[in-house]
Amino acid sequence: MPIQSSRISGFHKLSMPDRLAKVIEVAGLDSAVEAQLSNTGNLDAAVVDSMIENAIGTMNIPLGIATNMIVDGEDVLIPMATEESSVVAAVCNAARQCRDSGGFITSLSGSLMIAQVQLIDVKNPEFARLQILENKDRIREVCDETDPVLLKHGGGYRDIEVRVLEGGRTGSMVITHLIVDTRDAMGANAVNSMAEAVAPLIAQWTGGRTYLRILSNLADRRLARARATWSLDAIGGESVRDGILSAFDFADIDPYRAATHNKGVMNGVSAVVLATGNDTRAVEAGAHAYAARSGQYRSLTRWEVDQEGNLTGMIEMPMAVGLIGGATKSHPTARVALDVMNTRTAEKLARVIAAVGLAQNFSALKALATTGIQKGHMALHAKNIAVMAGATGPEIDTVARELVEGGKVRVDIAEEILARLRG
Ligand code: MEV
Repeated sequence: MPIQSSRISGFHKLSMPDRLAKVIEVAGLDSAVEAQLSNTGNLDAAVVDSMIENAIGTMNIPLGIATNMIVDGEDVLIPMATEESSVVAAVCNAARQCRDSGGFITSLSGSLMIAQVQLIDVKNPEFARLQILENKDRIREVCDETDPVLLKHGGGYRDIEVRVLEGGRTGSMVITHLIVDTRDAMGANAVNSMAEAVAPLIAQWTGGRTYLRILSNLADRRLARARATWSLDAIGGESVRDGILSAFDFADIDPYRAATHNKGVMNGVSAVVLATGNDTRAVEAGAHAYAARSGQYRSLTRWEVDQEGNLTGMIEMPMAVGLIGGATKSHPTARVALDVMNTRTAEKLARVIAAVGLAQNFSALKALATTGIQKGHMALHAKNIAVMAGATGPEIDTVARELVEGGKVRVDIAEEILARLRG
């Protein structure tokens, strides 16, 4: 039934329970929804209400732990928040198969974020570029005054670069990049404030007009890297290895395939980013922009063969994650997730996430190149189907098992099995 109107005057001023009651009324929902949504789990209702506007409740997503990971010689448990079955299992499997070869080796290019200041209406853009570059020291001062706390933690302004961009409809523009070390913070607020503080000076020096002042999510000064070796024995021989290589080639030359290939990488990456209360969209935007940096959208991972014939995999991608601020601090599950990982620095978090992305890609390519994705996926998805058919408690496992054994993982069949079980 369509609602009468989405115009609910003063909605944001209502208390959270009143907002929920209003939505139930306007959307014509069953009043049972009230009990369902007013349970905000381990997130205090006051915290929920302070995190976003017009909050009415929370949306719970399963949190799983990927086991078997060794990252830089250390065993790490990986918290993953995802609604998709087989994502956690994929990481466990990939990590198990490279444990004997030492697991994942990782690195980070730095914790530098870029804020952009757009300057328009400037007649002589190349001249303006030099005017801005000459004022490096003043820009440093303004940036560092803007965030003394960051400075105290060893971060702050590092450099500027100034680019003249042609071809816009409004004529050429001069783009200043403030390059800022944001240390353990993701850094969006820090660099956005710096861009806003520096912009009036840029306008004054050049006689132009500054416009957008915002970070770039193409965080290519904050690249997380991971590599690992899978021995031929561990993966089941040359044909599996060659299948994975061929799958990688496909992704690297075809954007249609690359999108799905990288989606698989992000299954792992985004699950850890979300579990730790970080900004999934920031990391996703950075990943995809980086994948397209050559002008063609390509694979975020690379696969090769080493001298012994083993399979080697690599990933390199922007990883703007932090431990300070946002949901990472305010969400109790995010805090526990970091404890589970024994992660005390944004650098370690970024590096581990890159390893998870590579692990995820390995499992997806291996499954695709051998049995196909549906066998494993459906075995795990069968539990979802059982729940959709109405199974509860121990019935879920029984129905799921019968679905998999029967080879048809479908809701109608799950309903039949359930009806039979219940006599
Ligand atoms: C599914 O969520 C992810 C995969 O499609 C990734 C891939 O195709 O590489 C299996």
